[in-house]
Amino acid sequence: MYYSKFFDVPRYRVIQRITPIDELSVLGKELGVRIFVKRDDLLDLALGGNKIRKLEFIFGDVLRKNADTVITTGAYHSNHARLTAAFARKTGRDVYLVLTPPGSKDSKDLRGNLLIDRLFDAKIIDAKDPDEAEKIMREIASELERRGRRPYIISRGGAMAPGVLGYAYAMFEILQQLYEMNIKPDYIVAATGTGATQAGLLLGKILTGLDSKIIGISVGRKADYLIEKIYELVFEGARYLNVDIRFSRDEIIVYDDYTFGGYGVINKDLVKVISDVAFKETILLDPVYTGKAMTGLIDLVNKNVIKKGSNILFIHTGGTPILFQYQEIISKYLEEIKRE
Ligand SMILES: Cc1ncc(COP(=O)(O)O)c(C=O)c1O
Repeated sequence: MYYSKFFDVPRYRVIQRITPIDELSVLGKELGVRIFVKRDDLLDLALGGNKIRKLEFIFGDVLRKNADTVITTGAYHSNHARLTAAFARKTGRDVYLVLTPPGSKDSKDLRGNLLIDRLFDAKIIDAKDPDEAEKIMREIASELERRGRRPYIISRGGAMAPGVLGYAYAMFEILQQLYEMNIKPDYIVAATGTGATQAGLLLGKILTGLDSKIIGISVGRKADYLIEKIYELVFEGARYLNVDIRFSRDEIIVYDDYTFGGYGVINKDLVKVISDVAFKETILLDPVYTGKAMTGLIDLVNKNVIKKGSNILFIHTGGTPILFQYQEIISKYLEEIKRE
């Protein structure tokens, strides 16, 4: 009944394939659990990642409103910015990216996601922080409107009603795949940045009637802030889909103990987890999102918060280009780790 609601919302499709679910058997055996990975790092467009699922619904709205320019914001290493630029190219829209630290846009730093933004010929504007970025986005939009253009502001990270639907819809795909594998997930774990992915998973949990726990590992923000934000986003998504839901804050689980000191902070312990997972499982994690989320997953199992013997689905939300954006710091720690 809920599934058919998706017919009524616009979606600009770029996803052509169902992404695989792989098992991390070495790590799982060590930890005494089964860990499965939804490989959304392999999603179809421009090096993949979770933002593609959200942007399909956001660009559905962009096209419906006949906007000719999109404007968004994020850090210099933003995956969301890269993929917004990719969708803009696909749909022939102009794109402005208002980018903030962490990271920089010095020419020596023109690599990783920033390099790809440039390949897509995005107009890049600097801001000193997210508040200034919001102001600049509104100014660009007003200026464009004055010139008779039709701009569309996409929220940071795609955290807006249509964006939430990306993972609400993905939940149907995930459950069907796991059912065919005869695996019922006890926990679903993902990195939480703006909260839209987790909100989508929670909305998908309601729509599918699933009883697994959805755990978000914050990559920077405090849990209290994120819980409030996710709560709002779940309802925004439900309203956009035109469904009535019952949902309480108690169902939102966010851990903020694995930020390594803040958004974008990279240290040796984090690089150790990334290199361990690469070595044992040939899975590439990034230092801003998935590396932190996997650190949380491992620690929560070790603390028995995630119970031994359980089935865990980790959503690989992508972000691999960030490995190359921070290659110096990562290689420095890798050398130290190897010497130990
Ligand atoms: C690779 C990756 N993982 C996770 C996230 C977090 O997703 P959300 O902002 O929906 O919480 C992002 C978003 O920036 C991301 O790029």
